[in-house]
Amino acid sequence: MRTAIYPGSFDPITNGHLDIIHRALKVFDRIIIAVGINNEKKSVFPAEARVRMIQTATRGLNVEVDSFNCLLIDYARKKKCRIILRSFRALSDFDYEFQMALLNRKMYPSLEVVFLMPGQENLYLSSSAVKEFARKGGDIKGLVPGTVYKSILSGFR
Ligand code: PNS
Repeated sequence: MRTAIYPGSFDPITNGHLDIIHRALKVFDRIIIAVGINNEKKSVFPAEARVRMIQTATRGLNVEVDSFNCLLIDYARKKKCRIILRSFRALSDFDYEFQMALLNRKMYPSLEVVFLMPGQENLYLSSSAVKEFARKGGDIKGLVPGTVYKSILSGFR
């Protein structure tokens, strides 16, 4: 059984993340979606709310939704998983992802980091853009999973 960990802030989960999860399930049997808790980074949604939104959006898929408050490599060790899944949208993502992947692999040499790209229709999507839109009253329908649309709006209004 091939399992990969898909870590991220997911503040909130978007259709871009869901796109990656669906693609990943064609490659892996099971995905652990791991919400990173970073007390230094201000998040709009508390980790429990982020986990709940992901659970709702991924119902019926072979995923486990969890959160972690430690180094990603330590979390991967704890879960006995050696595959990390991340995604690229544009070249602007590259530097950060490249550095993080190589640093994590240096610290945990048997780790592999696998990158998937979202479909073109989701290339422009990010949690930050969704938040900015929602905060200023923009309609974020179609940018986030339908089932979490309401909870995202109520987080701002
Ligand atoms: O969605 P994001 O904000 O790009 O996700 C970043 C995340 C949570 C994957 C990253 O910050 C992370 O792995 N945090 C855990 C702490 C850690 O291992 N930091 C060292 C990374 S080199």
